[in-house]
Amino acid sequence: MLILGIETSCDETAAAVVEEGLRVRSNIVSSQLELHSPYGGVVPELACRMHVENILPVISEALSEGGVSLEEIDLIAVTRGPGLIGALLVGLSTAKGLAYAQRKPLVGVNHLVGHIYAAFLEQPSVPFPFLALVVSGGHTELYRVKEHARYTLLGSTRDDAAGEAFDKVAKMLDLGYPGGPIIDRSARQGDPQAIDFPRAYLGKDSLDFSFSGLKTAVQIYLKRHPQLLAQEAEERSAWVCNVAASFQQAVVEVLVAKTIQAAQREKVASILLVGGVACNTLLRRELRARGEEIGLPVFYPSPVLCTDNAAMIACAAYFHGLKEGFPPAWPPHYLEMDAVAALQVPEG
Ligand code: KG4
Ligand code: ZN
Repeated sequence: MLILGIETSCDETAAAVVEEGLRVRSNIVSSQLELHSPYGGVVPELACRMHVENILPVISEALSEGGVSLEEIDLIAVTRGPGLIGALLVGLSTAKGLAYAQRKPLVGVNHLVGHIYAAFLEQPSVPFPFLALVVSGGHTELYRVKEHARYTLLGSTRDDAAGEAFDKVAKMLDLGYPGGPIIDRSARQGDPQAIDFPRAYLGKDSLDFSFSGLKTAVQIYLKRHPQLLAQEAEERSAWVCNVAASFQQAVVEVLVAKTIQAAQREKVASILLVGGVACNTLLRRELRARGEEIGLPVFYPSPVLCTDNAAMIACAAYFHGLKEGFPPAWPPHYLEMDAVAALQVPEG
């Protein structure tokens, strides 16, 4: 079965062709990084306009690199949410148009479910039940996944997502956008013990997260030490690396502690670390080390599959289809399908 995946939930226009759910024939991602970086964050209106310009060329490239024509595609899978509503609509409308014109079945995919399935593309035999820590620019969530397509939400962020905190702290430090990768790199030169930023555990048994207090703590620290920002380049940079390392240490400690606590409580067989923040070097290292200590394998995708892409959307559609059935191509059952900005992962 050949699936064409389409993803436009945020600032990447992406399309991919995936065979039998796992064999990635092409995975094209057109990033809008340069467009948004002068603003220090994604500007939704600009993102939508760019998706409109890019979507058809990106789909054509995915088809030609995948060595298939649109006629040969068996199913179209598109991200329905969560994400920026205008951005989602570009992908969804395009997918509907293609499906209708070509009489292909179309399925809507939850973006977070897509992130979870990214891990399967490189590790098809992930042992169930597993715990999935989904950490991205918009989400920080812990799921127990009993079997394919069966999720239970165990905890989520009460305020900022982990990626959002990385991006905002990078902005405070004038490091550029997106902040996650830059903080990751700067932190390697810094001392993670230099500043004792707060860790929010929210009670002994809570699996929820909160990062806004930490973000504010960094802001207060910077305000209280204006002389540090005014230093000569070399000293300033060493100090910025210390702030980055101490902040990253605080985020990673909480993410790892709660994930390990949940894994033990939920008696899972493995742990998945997915989403853009799963690229983080320290998080990957620490979670794997702590997983090993309790005898659990920890899987995380290669960085290109951690950040937004359409191969993960096609993969998720395949495994959900195997479980729940694939829709017929005709009559078009998807005409009423909406994009949903705050779409929840289906539980049960
Ligand atoms: O999953 P993703 O590509 O898009 C969303 O669904 O949000 O995640 C993007 C987020 C951004 O906040 C970015 O700063 C963060 O992932 N990120 C990282 C790293 N690479 C990307 N955060 C920490 N360390 C990294 N190496
Ligand atoms: Zn994402």
